[in-house]
Amino acid sequence: MSSTETQIRQATPPSSPHDSDTALFLRAAWGQDTERAPLWLMRQAGRYLPEYLAIKAKSSFWEMVRTPELAAEVSLQPLRRFPLDAAIIFSDIMTPLPALGIEIAFNPGPVVANPIRTKAQIEALRRPEAEEIAPFLAKAIGLTRAELSARNIPVIGFGGAPLTLATYLIQGSGSKEYEDFRAFLRLEPAATHALLGKLTELSIDYLKLQIEAGARAIQLFDSWAGLHDWATYREFALPYNRAIFQALAGLGVPRIYLAVGASHLYPVIAELPCEVVSVDWRLPLNHIRSHFPNRTLQGNLDPSVLLASPEVITHEAHQVLQAGLGGAHIFNLGHGVIRTTPLEHVAHLAEVVRAFDRRS
Ligand code: CP3
Repeated sequence: MSSTETQIRQATPPSSPHDSDTALFLRAAWGQDTERAPLWLMRQAGRYLPEYLAIKAKSSFWEMVRTPELAAEVSLQPLRRFPLDAAIIFSDIMTPLPALGIEIAFNPGPVVANPIRTKAQIEALRRPEAEEIAPFLAKAIGLTRAELSARNIPVIGFGGAPLTLATYLIQGSGSKEYEDFRAFLRLEPAATHALLGKLTELSIDYLKLQIEAGARAIQLFDSWAGLHDWATYREFALPYNRAIFQALAGLGVPRIYLAVGASHLYPVIAELPCEVVSVDWRLPLNHIRSHFPNRTLQGNLDPSVLLASPEVITHEAHQVLQAGLGGAHIFNLGHGVIRTTPLEHVAHLAEVVRAFDRRS
């Protein structure tokens, strides 16, 4: 990116009275080729941490998400152990959906009591007021920020992309290839669009409430985008993701998009208005840059590398760091931390990333 473009992007004024964007993570997210790659990990708050499991043993997943003190505590846990450059608020992509009148359980993945299969079910969904969607989340973000602002560590807010949310709502629970969902798109395109429209409105309110509460960046998780071909993505994902990102433009927060297993979609994804593209491990970052000139790349260590040895971690992290040169880079995994990841391997990764000087 040219320095003029960097200046223009960085000149975007924060729309609320947040700290100025001096945090390493935010500088990189706005497109700066920083001296060191900031580091955070998807699913950094979660089941590989014994202190998370201790809380989980006493509370259900929904209790943890809906109790601001617990959600803030869980968000902070990885920051106490590891020198990470951002926190992600502890919640789930399914969190806003009960506000539509949809009952969701976790076992451990989301299970929808009545999967959505008819037009009538879609028409019956409520349009909640913005304040009712997740008031507990706004409080959790406030508590988390209060602990981290002295360290100038920003909090990332997030939501699920409409097509990924619809994947769970229509299929009903996790599946390998989501065949029922992919058939539904073809059999009921009008009903699907009606559902995606409602999920888009909900997501915009949900993400805005997180920004108002102090989230300094927003990540849209499109975990299941990679299931689809170009035409399907273009029809059922692109317009809705674009609408969400457009609604968040000018609010002073960088917008991050993650699609998994979706390298075949990058030429289409390149049309999305976002500052950061998070990439999985399947292609090296230097091969992806050409699709996204002037954007920040986030990623892309294979999470399974953290199950290997410190030597392997050093080697593969260096490959990612090298491939990330030549533009702004936020170090992350290609997808979430795996449950059986040893804590000392995460600590080792953090050391390797922090010691890598991108200027030398
Ligand atoms: O540290 C963080 O990243 C914040 C927490 C976070 C959770 N879910 C907590 C969680 C985030 C960012 C999510 C997003 C999420 N949730 C996604 C997108 C990211 C991805 O992995 O693609 C998706 C698809 C979901 C849906 C979901 N929720 C699944 C598939 C599962 C089951 C198992 C799992 O962890 O993958 C959940 C439950 C869930 N969400 C747990 C956690 C910590 C596990 C609950 C438990 O402790 O048993």
